[in-house]
Amino acid sequence: MKITSLSPPTAAIALLAAAVFAVATVAQAPQGPPQGPPQGPQPGGSGRPPRTYPAPTNLKVLPKDTTGQQIHEIMEGWAGSLGVHCDTCHSADPKNLGPNGRPRLKFDDDSKPEKQMARIMYKMTEDMKKNYIEKVADMDKMDSPAAPLTCGTCHRGHLDPEEFVPPHEEGPRGPGGPPPAGAMPNMPDMQH
Ligand code: HEC
Ligand code: HEC
Repeated sequence: MKITSLSPPTAAIALLAAAVFAVATVAQAPQGPPQGPPQGPQPGGSGRPPRTYPAPTNLKVLPKDTTGQQIHEIMEGWAGSLGVHCDTCHSADPKNLGPNGRPRLKFDDDSKPEKQMARIMYKMTEDMKKNYIEKVADMDKMDSPAAPLTCGTCHRGHLDPEEFVPPHEEGPRGPGGPPPAGAMPNMPDMQH
């Protein structure tokens, strides 16, 4: 009798637990193709349906055996490092409209100069890693470079890397606080 009166809530808890477990399991499924890496709004993107990424057909600098999934991750990284979307480098195909009526991107097309530039940049970055950064690491007897070189090392979220403006100079004696009002900036101390 006690048991029957306890039953409904117990059943409810069991159900709830099962539901939570199911949700957690789905959320943790590591290879779930529908989710993929986080994606911003993408012009020409096909929306939510499960996506598999087709094998690339026009690689000229990335290794030829790079998979579609790997390409997608690399591209997300480049876009993020430069603070741009896919259509900065990839041209739209007016003959291939997505469900939203907007043209899809033709990823294997090479007509945008930004894409060509990105290829040069990739080769430059790989060259710097192999021929410079790794040598520095060897000389320092480090296991691996402290800061790996990426597109973001220079671009920092901008298509054109911003000009570096040195912070306000701090004189030869180190930080001395703000100069007195009216002091000439960057003038050597001529008092003595
Ligand atoms: C900074 C420029 C740039 C951005 C931004 C960029 N890509 Fe790319 N993408 C390239 C370059 C360059 C290649 C060709 C690489 C090569 O030649 O090895 C490429 C190749 C590809 C390919 C393979 C095409 C083929 O069949 O050969 C796909 C797919 C792709 N990009 C998708 C994307 C997606 C999706 C995004 C946005 C998340 C994106 N790209 C953002 C420059 C870019
Ligand atoms: C060592 C610094 C450095 C690294 C690393 C680097 N870039 Fe650049 N990138 C530059 C500079 C400098 C420019 C020239 C900007 C300008 O024209 O004002 C540039 C220009 C570009 C442009 C052309 C921008 C435009 O205005 O059309 C693209 C695209 C680009 N980089 C992509 C990349 C990608 C992708 C990577 C990584 C694979 C990368 N860069 C790595 C320094 C770098």
